[in-house]
Amino acid sequence: MSLIQPLTDKTFNLHGRDFLEMDDYSTEEIQYLIDLAIELKRKQKNGEVYEPLKGKTVGLIFEKSSTRTRVSFEVGTYQLGGHALFLSKNDIQLGRGETIADTAGVMSRYLDGIMIRTFGHDKVVDLAKYSSIPVINGLSDLAHPCQVLADYQTIYEHKGKLQGIKLAYVGDGNNMAHSLMIGGAKLGVHVSVASPEGYAPDAAVVQQAQEFAKATGAIIEVVHDPKAAVQDADVIYSDVWASMGFEEEQKLREIAFKDYQVDEQLASYAKDDYVFMHCLPAHRGEEVSEGVIDGKHSIIFDQAENRLHAQKALMAALMG
Ligand code: CP
Ligand code: NVA
Repeated sequence: MSLIQPLTDKTFNLHGRDFLEMDDYSTEEIQYLIDLAIELKRKQKNGEVYEPLKGKTVGLIFEKSSTRTRVSFEVGTYQLGGHALFLSKNDIQLGRGETIADTAGVMSRYLDGIMIRTFGHDKVVDLAKYSSIPVINGLSDLAHPCQVLADYQTIYEHKGKLQGIKLAYVGDGNNMAHSLMIGGAKLGVHVSVASPEGYAPDAAVVQQAQEFAKATGAIIEVVHDPKAAVQDADVIYSDVWASMGFEEEQKLREIAFKDYQVDEQLASYAKDDYVFMHCLPAHRGEEVSEGVIDGKHSIIFDQAENRLHAQKALMAALMG
């Protein structure tokens, strides 16, 4: 792991920036964050103390459930020497109708950074607009960039490169599909999304990713046939059929997505050394078979671990 070459030899001052989606970060800035994540992972494994957030406090606003995001941000802040505040929507006045603008104004006077997980992406954008401190998107209906930063770190560690890697995303054209496309386009990773009719990713996001891809040579495509997407893939990625906020569509979606399960048969179209990824939580027997997610190609726990390292890199860069 520590023998891996840095993706860039440049360093960037990202202090004070927001991280709402990868679209406002350059290729080299994302590469720098991945390099930093790998370096902070090395430091943590070696027991080296690194505390750029000493004396600083990060607020974590959650309007949706979370295991990985909450735990990795809390633990990451602690490891960086700072303090994390878990702010559930049921416990703060935002849940009783206080405006985002007032919440942002007040939080900016106490905290050094905010992470928010919410429904509409406009809320994340507004929070950033009215805050004078960095805002990190910990998942919105549109995007999940923290997950994807960790995911591309994980792919780099496993494959030794990103440029020219083929990632097949099979399933719902949701926040994960969007951020994987934007991130892939920026990093030169070909991303082929296979979704059923009516569940394709947002056309504007696809177009934006294809625009970014012109600079890196990445191929960003949306198809219906899962086999076409998975053909010769280095990475197969899947996510739940019904994301948070869409639970009432579960039954409808089980029908629409029935041919979109990543199982051994579908995976046989990928390269022999493919890796299977999933942001988790997963539903075995729906979007992925037990054999694939628990099999030898699966790297789901490396991915989950890297949430910690990638977000530490992000917080150190933006708030340190
Ligand atoms: N992958 C992810 O964001 O997991 P949580 O919903 O548990 O935070
Ligand atoms: N697409 C999923 C990701 C969960 C981490 C959701 O939004 O629920």
